[in-house]
Parts: sequence; structure tokens; C-alpha cells
Amino acid sequence: MRIALLGGTGDIGEGLALRFGRDTDHEVLVGSRDPESARDAVAGYEETLEAHGAEATVKGFVNEMVTDRADVAVLAVPPYHVGDTIESVADALDENTILVTPAVAMKRDDGGMQFHPPSAGSTTELVAQRAPDGVPVVGAYHNLPAARLADLEADIDYDTPVVGTDRDAVRTVVDLTNEIEGLRALEAGPLSNAAAIESLTALTITLTMYNDARDLGVKWQE
Ligand SMILES: NC(=O)c1ccc[n+]([C@@H]2O[C@H](COP(=O)([O-])OP(=O)(O)OC[C@H]3O[C@@H](n4cnc5c(N)ncnc54)[C@H](OP(=O)(O)O)[C@@H]3O)[C@@H](O)[C@H]2O)c1
Repeated sequence: MRIALLGGTGDIGEGLALRFGRDTDHEVLVGSRDPESARDAVAGYEETLEAHGAEATVKGFVNEMVTDRADVAVLAVPPYHVGDTIESVADALDENTILVTPAVAMKRDDGGMQFHPPSAGSTTELVAQRAPDGVPVVGAYHNLPAARLADLEADIDYDTPVVGTDRDAVRTVVDLTNEIEGLRALEAGPLSNAAAIESLTALTITLTMYNDARDLGVKWQE
């Protein structure tokens, strides 16, 4: 499978590129608005992967090009830029590319980090509104700490709820995510459940602030 990371030069993009690169046989395509940034990021990721004994296929191009070749395209850009980014790659999206969004809109106040959703209810639902007709949209990875993913020395043990209206697309993302060691993807129902998941990210950051903790994530136990 080909996994494109749009804005894959950033924090969550790096974490996902390294974990998919090390733990799976899928082709990882790192996207950027600038081809040189994509190539630079790939050079760094390859160096890290090689240092960890992984023979991964990672390539870097502009966002449009990685989307065009993708089975799964992760919108790893800031929440306020999901709309422009979708517009910039719209011609490359169709019903055969699953568009995955990890984006969470938040703002900081005196009490901590607060969930600050768009009028759609969540950034995930905003992405679904802005995606071209027929493109399956899935929300995932909202609560994962990027820095911990990017540290391949570190073990991880996190859950990530996955939402979407297209059940096949949800299952594809769940199965793909479960290939990463230490991640458990959980089906979480339709896109309308995304706000509850996104709000957990703000709470997690607030918990980090008050408890001198780092790399907190979510894990549901039986
Ligand atoms: N960081 C985390 O721990 C974490 C965890 C879970 C979910 N998320 C979500 O994942 C998304 C990315 O987070 P991040 O921390 O990785 O962000 P980031 O590092 O700040 O940015 C990611 C990439 O987005 C691109 N970008 C920046 N401004 C843009 C714009 N105006 N238009 C289009 N692309 C732009 C940049 O790539 P180029 O300059 O190369 O184009 C940048 O490298 C966010 O929506 C966030 O809510 C983050």
C-alpha cells in the first residue's frame, strides 16, 4: 500500500513516517508544499531508519504528487490549513484514496488547552465537508504524541480511535495502523463521534501541563 503524508515534514508526519517505515512494508511518501523540504525530510528519516536497521521505502515530493499515488493520504497539516491543503490536492483525490485526518483545533487559555472546534463540530467533519465528493474520509491519530512516535528508541503503547462513515475505509485504516508495534486502532463509529475524540487531545495536553508529564496518550483498558 502507498501511504502519503501531506505535510509529512512536520511533527506527526515524522512520527508516522518513521513508525510506518520501520514496522511495515508499505511505501511511505512524504509530501510538502516545497519539493526540496520533502527531499530534506526524507533524507533525515532514511538516516534514522537506517540507524535502526530498517530498510524502508520512503520518497518525498510535493503534496499533489504524493496524493496522486496514494492509497491512503494523511492530512498532517495544521488544523487551520486542512481546507487549503485539500483544495491544493483535490485533482489527485478520488474514491480510491482514503483521506485520513489527525487534525485537532485547540486554543490555550489560563486553565490549559481547550478544544476549539470549527462550526462543522470537529476538524474531522470539516475535512469531510471539504473533501471532493466520493472521497472516503477517516479520522485517526488525533491523540498520539508525535515526539514519542518519532523517537524510535522509545516503546509505545497507545490507542487511537478511528472514525468514518465508510466502514471499509475505517477497517483499512484500522488494519494499517495495527501494523505499527504498540499502537491499537479502535473502531469508533461515524464522523459525528470525532469531536469527542479530538477534545481528548486538548485534555491530554492539559494533563501534561499540570503533571510534569510527557508524551501522554490514551489507552483504554479492559
Ligand atoms: N504534533 C502532535 O503531537 C500531533 C498529534 C496528533 C495530531 N496532530 C495533528 O496533526 C496535524 C499536524 O501537526 P504537526 O504538529 O505535525 O504540525 P506542524 O509540524 O506544525 O506542521 C506540519 C506540516 O504542515 C505544513 N504546513 C504548515 N503550514 C501550512 C499551511 N499554511 N498550509 C499547508 N501546509 C502547511 C508544513 O509542511 P511543508 O512546509 O513542508 O508544506 C509542516 O511541516 C495538526 O492538525 C495536529 O492537530 C498533531
